[in-house]
Amino acid sequence: MKILIVGSGGREHAIAVSAAKSSRVQKIYCAPGNAGIGMIAECVPIGAMEFEKLVAFAKEKEINLVIVGMDDPLVGGLVDELEAAGIPAFGPKKNAAILEGSKAFSKDLMKKYGIPTAAYETFEDARAAEEYLKDQAAFPIVLKADGLALGKGVLICNTLEEALAGVKEIMEDKKFGSAGNRMVVEEFLTGREVSVLSFVDGKTIKIMSSAQDHKRAKDGDQGLNTGGMGNFSPSPFYTDEIDAFCKKYIYQATVDAMAAEGRPFHGVIFFGLILTEKGPRVLEYNARFGDPEAQVVLPRMKNDLIDVCEACINGTLDQIDLKFEDNAAVCVVLASDGYPVSYEKGFEITGLEKFEGKEDYFCFHAGTKKDEQGRIVTNGGRVLGITALGEDLKTARRKAYEAADWVDFANKYMRHDIGKSIDLC
Ligand code: AMP
Ligand code: GLY
Repeated sequence: MKILIVGSGGREHAIAVSAAKSSRVQKIYCAPGNAGIGMIAECVPIGAMEFEKLVAFAKEKEINLVIVGMDDPLVGGLVDELEAAGIPAFGPKKNAAILEGSKAFSKDLMKKYGIPTAAYETFEDARAAEEYLKDQAAFPIVLKADGLALGKGVLICNTLEEALAGVKEIMEDKKFGSAGNRMVVEEFLTGREVSVLSFVDGKTIKIMSSAQDHKRAKDGDQGLNTGGMGNFSPSPFYTDEIDAFCKKYIYQATVDAMAAEGRPFHGVIFFGLILTEKGPRVLEYNARFGDPEAQVVLPRMKNDLIDVCEACINGTLDQIDLKFEDNAAVCVVLASDGYPVSYEKGFEITGLEKFEGKEDYFCFHAGTKKDEQGRIVTNGGRVLGITALGEDLKTARRKAYEAADWVDFANKYMRHDIGKSIDLC
């Protein structure tokens, strides 16, 4: 098979590594890819939003399967265009990717079908939102831009003043662009967060092993929200009891709700859960693998990724016995100092060869590229995701931090407490 992966981050590198393990795969292309992906795939200089070029490329190369990693092209309808051209594509169509693309849509869906989530109101008008906040809101309160905002469109406001400033930022100043045309105001929940990824074929859902992200930039969960500074899998806080609750009230209920709305979901649903005292609640849905969740979950998956993707497309996921290794993985993100605000790029990365031939260690590239002299240099905020496998979380964590020191580049920055909470178990 010839496959094409769309995206350029650590998640897409993890997808490429998994795909390369399949005996069915002869050739992997990635658009646009990065320096690490380029070591196992042929990178093509086509952007993830260049739909016409992607479709033309897939036709020309007779691609047998396209895996769309990123949210923007999914929400924009890339899968619809590929399918219209007769090219099998893994990921939800536009009418289903809205599960991630519009927070107002996903909140209304959960309300209509009784799926547990935070109480909320939706606003299309800044004045009405301000009145609501002045009259009845309890604080802290959460403001969410409706659309995609690189994971940054969520504001937690401790006072009325902060909330009013937030309404201005989202709805008037349009800090997140058209994502702020509508806004969700949501009850603030407290609890531990868990990411649960799943494969879905329109009607059947199979849950992957759980993971826990670390979204804030600095140790001790301080600093700004980022795309994710590291994570681990499985989460010891995701107990059998919680799993049973989610299976009963959240997972299948979401898949059935989408089907009932005439929006059958094929692909990955990523449930962003918060474990409150009253039980698990859905904080958000994503319509794709998480980044860096893919970097800890996929290396633990026993199945052939291509078989599972095809089953999701064809509606035969019930015939797949999804299995994970009985081990653990920890991923530490090496970022450029200053991320997520501003940072310099173009610094040479050294030590990458130390990962060669080591089965338990992965160096997933995110923001990297090859420069004119053929050196691999930093090219983004999140540069590398260092993943290690171990028999348990503590071992995986020790190994991940050990390997994080193998590579070096100017302005290298990482959190030192990824997975520290597992010490509580
Ligand atoms: P989201 O993009 O919706 O996952 O939100 C990003 C982050 O904001 C989440 O991972 C939580 O840490 C936080 N968050 C979102 N919604 C809430 C909420 N209702 N209560 C507390 N924290 C929240
Ligand atoms: N790591 C969070 C996300 O991919 O949205």
